[in-house]
Order: sequence, then structure tokens, then C-alpha cells
Amino acid sequence: MCGIVGYIGPRQAQEVLISGLAKLEYRGYDSAGIAIHDGAQIDVKKKAGKLENLSTLLDGQPMSGSLGIGHTRWATHGLPNDTNAHPHATEDGRIVIIHNGIIENYLTLKEGLMSRGHQFKSETDSEVLAHLIEEAYAGNLEEAVRAALAQVRGAYGIVVTHVDHRGIVAARTVSPLVMGVGEGEMFLASDVPALLAYTRNMVFLHDGDMVVLNDDGFRVMDLAGNPQQRTIEHIEWDAEAAEKGGFDTYMLKEIYEQPQALTNTLIGRLHDETGEVNLDINLDPGSFKRISIIACGTAFYAGLVGEYLIEQLARIPVEVDVASEYRYRDPLVSENTLAIVVSQSGETIDTLEALREAKKFGAKTLGVINAKGSSMTRELDDTLYIHAGPEIGVASTKAYTSMVSAFLMLALWLGRARGTLSEEQGAELLKAARELPRLVEEALAPERVARIKEVAEKYATARDYLFLGRGVNSPTAYEGALKLKEISYIHAEAYAAGEMKHGPIALIDENLPVAVIATESRLLEKTISNVQEVRARAGKVILFLSDGDTENARHGDDVIYVPRAHEMVSPVVNAVAMQLLAYFTATALGKDVDKPRNLAKSVTVE
Ligand code: F6R
Repeated sequence: MCGIVGYIGPRQAQEVLISGLAKLEYRGYDSAGIAIHDGAQIDVKKKAGKLENLSTLLDGQPMSGSLGIGHTRWATHGLPNDTNAHPHATEDGRIVIIHNGIIENYLTLKEGLMSRGHQFKSETDSEVLAHLIEEAYAGNLEEAVRAALAQVRGAYGIVVTHVDHRGIVAARTVSPLVMGVGEGEMFLASDVPALLAYTRNMVFLHDGDMVVLNDDGFRVMDLAGNPQQRTIEHIEWDAEAAEKGGFDTYMLKEIYEQPQALTNTLIGRLHDETGEVNLDINLDPGSFKRISIIACGTAFYAGLVGEYLIEQLARIPVEVDVASEYRYRDPLVSENTLAIVVSQSGETIDTLEALREAKKFGAKTLGVINAKGSSMTRELDDTLYIHAGPEIGVASTKAYTSMVSAFLMLALWLGRARGTLSEEQGAELLKAARELPRLVEEALAPERVARIKEVAEKYATARDYLFLGRGVNSPTAYEGALKLKEISYIHAEAYAAGEMKHGPIALIDENLPVAVIATESRLLEKTISNVQEVRARAGKVILFLSDGDTENARHGDDVIYVPRAHEMVSPVVNAVAMQLLAYFTATALGKDVDKPRNLAKSVTVE
């Protein structure tokens, strides 16, 4: 968690740091701070709360200097107050650091440092880094950082400045760091959007890399000091692509970007002429007997849809795990297992560690990933990029629908390769997949959005919500409930509709809105029976039906029509309606949907 920015060059650093941090607030916004080296001393200013609090402070007293580091925090150790905000400096103010990650052995290190006379100001784990570097410093900052890092256990993206040096030293283990290469200037950040206003030439630092930045260049080495070659990649996203583009929020912008995101996911991969899917991966479809899908949160729900699609279309046994459980449950993994990790950021630590666990036992690994150059992509055998583009809104939207579409292609590819799917079935599904961008465009038609908004506002004061779906759309219900919880703070539960009678039915009364996904499917009749069970107990049914289903409309207190889609692709189309329901509920309640409380976009702590 946390966002990091660094700058060295001819510009005033304050401007670069603040504009970079503004692009990283999705990584945490408990506090923000910057440190600027003015040639004689390093000045630190930091403030609890969102970046605007720091900006207000700086309005009155701007900082001058062309070398600086900045941080936006998502608190792990220590309250989100001014003192615990980064940067952290040594007592004499000569060494200043920022850190993203967790130092697991910080308590032991802190005790040792205190016994040797170091005085700590904050309650953070990060502050030990400043003191360790101070202790190891004998005129060479690079060596001091190396010696300090040799003592720590955990995850870090760390950026360090010293008053005697015109340079920045940074290193990463687990936590991401990308370097921007300008002309006569250098940048560092946790993520690409922070730097796009200044450069598109980036170096993605690898796990275990250390880098020294000067005005005229950089040197990368490993943590033992051995030089490393890293290539400069040209990033095509322009700064505009990472901005709100006229929408009130990133989340809404990203909801509306879905037709484009889906086009990007599918493009060049579906071949109508031959009915083939080309995923450009090296995986041998006959080389495994079972599949483990591993992910967290929304990506986990995409994995559940993946399970359904792969088992249906390719007849391979699939199990889906929450990554934080997988790591510790001693899973049965062998060379016959294909482990598929699913992640928007490619940085989620639980998923990354689960990937390592699967690799340890010889599994083949494939990633369904959005972020290019992310940590997972460097450890996977193969990556199926979803190409959804940068996702800034904390609540995942376009990444989810792109992940589900990627699973559809994967299931199709496996099914055709393993002979479980006839050419005719393959062609039918390929056609359905190709329709997705258009169907989602239709799902976002103004009159449909207005209808969802109307229903969302009607129930916005509900205390609880229940979401129900069946078959391939039961994960859609789970995802709908998660979206609502995350951004509106309304308690929501989701169940496979047939499961409701085994317990959750006790919750139903006239105050409980029940959102039911009852679009065209083999199980529609059964779903409608479950709806009757809700209505018999006075629950308020919000019924999501396929266009033209007037027959079942009478079973809903409120009906929302969604574009009619092939059952196997319907989770993508239906998810859009779920996103909008959550979005308009949250905005009706005046919530800050892009920065929901307690959440951060990229969860790089366990
Ligand atoms: C929910 C959400 C989270 C993420 C989860 C995994 O809207 O965004 O549940 O899906 O933290 O993140 P990634 O996909 O980056 O691994």
C-alpha cells in the first residue's frame, strides 16, 4: 500500500511530487507528505488526511528545491496522524526516507536501535529504516541503504535522500517501483500514472532491485550491489487516459470505459474465419489435469465465473481459492496443476505469495492480469493480459468484466484444444463473446442508467441488502454485494439463490431489498421460484430481467431490464447493472466512491 514519488532534475520538485501524489491517492489517503532538498538542508512537510490537507499547508509556505520525495499513506502500523505520516527523518534531519510496505521485524530492530541511543518519533515500522541507514552511513549512501536493507525482513519500496548527496537511492522488494527517465531529470513512483505528465519512458524495477538516481541518469543493481541491466519501456497510455475524462468520478468513467476495455481484451484474439481463439500464450492445453484459480476480492469473483466457464466448456476440474487462504491451507498442487492467478494490479501480496506457493510445488502458472510489468507478471510462466487500461477507482469495475471475458476466451480455447467443444459450439460462443462490447454499450444507454439510478435512490436508505443469482450468475450476485458494501457502506450479503432457503431466508422482511439476477438462463424458472420465496416473506424484489421478458416482470417490486445475452457471457453484461446500482446508491448517500473508507486500490500488505 501507500504511494511513492521521487524527483531529481531542474524543476521545482514540489510541483512534480504533488501532481504525482494526486495520481497515487488510490493507493492510500490517510496522510501525505513531501521532503525537499534545497541544496543546504532537507525540509519535510506532512499532514494527516487527504492530499488536499498537505496542499493547503503548502499554499501558505511553498518549498523550494529540485530534489524531493513524496508519499501518500495507507496506515498499517500507527495511527493516521501527522507524526506517523511519511517522510521520516533521522533526529538530525540529514537522512529522510519514504516507505511502502511492511517491515515485519521492525519491533526487534527498533528495540536494538533504541538500546543504541536512537530516539523514535513515530509509531511506524518504516521509521526504523531511517535509523538503520543512519547507523550504517559512513559517507556512501548507497552502501548504507544496502547494509540497512540486509537487516530487514518484509516488503518495501523505499526511497532515500541524504543532505550531503545530490542523488536519490531507492530499492524494492515486493512493493512496486517504476522509474521515469526524462531528459536531464529522473522520476520514481509506485505506479505509472504518477509520471505520465512528465515522461512516457519507464523502467519497471524488479523485485530486489536497488537504484541510484542522479540528474543525468540512473544505475540499477541488485541488493548485493551487482549491476543489473533494465530496459526502458515506452508507455503508450497518455496522461488523459489516467484522468477522469469529464466524469464526476474515476469509477463512473471506468464503468463507461467498459465497451472499450472489452474490445481491448478481445481484440486480435477471436478469429471468426476459423472459429479459433488465439491467446498468444505458450501453455500446452494438454499438460495439466486440474486447474486452481487463485485471487482476492473482485478478482476472486471473476475466478468463480472462470470456474463455471472452464468446467462447462473444457470439462477440466477447477477449484477457486481466496489467495490468503490458499497460501496457508497446504493445497494439493503438482506438475499436473495449472495455477491461474487473477489480479488487476498484479501486486496484491496475498495473490503473489499464493503464486509462489503454487510454483514451489511445480504447478504451471498463468496470470489473468491487467498491469503491465507488475510483480506477478515477472514470476508467471505465462500472462494473459486483460488490457483494460489503468483502473484508478478503488472499486474495481472494468477490470472485472475484462477478467471475466478473458476467462471466456480461455475456456473456449481450452475447450476447442481438448475437443470438448465442437466447432459449432465454439463458433456460437465466439460470436457471443464478440458481441460483448456492443451489449455493454447498450447496457449503458442513458434510459437504462436512469432507471437503475431511480431504483438505487428508492432503496438507498436500506440498512441491509441481499443479492441472489444462480449458476454462472451467482458470482455476479457476490460481486454486486461487494460493490455495494465497498462504496455505500450498506451491509449486503449474496447467495446462490437456491441456498437462500437454508438460512438467509430468515433475514427477509418488508425492509429488505433483494436484488435478483434473473436474466435468460437454463435456471431462470428455478430463480423465479426463489423470488416467490422472498415475496412470500414481504421482501422487496429488485428483479434484473433480460429485455423482452414481460412474463416474469410481475414477480418484481421493481424491474430493471438488461440487454439479452448468451448465458455464458451474461455475467459481463449483468455486472454492469450491479456496478451502477452500487454507484448510484453510494452517490445518493453522498459517499466518496473513488475513495471509500478503509480501502486502498492495491493491497500489498498481508
Ligand atoms: C473490489 C476490489 C478488490 C480487489 C482485490 C484484488 O472492488 O477492487 O476486492 O479486487 O483487492 O486486487 P487485484 O485484482 O489488484 O489483485
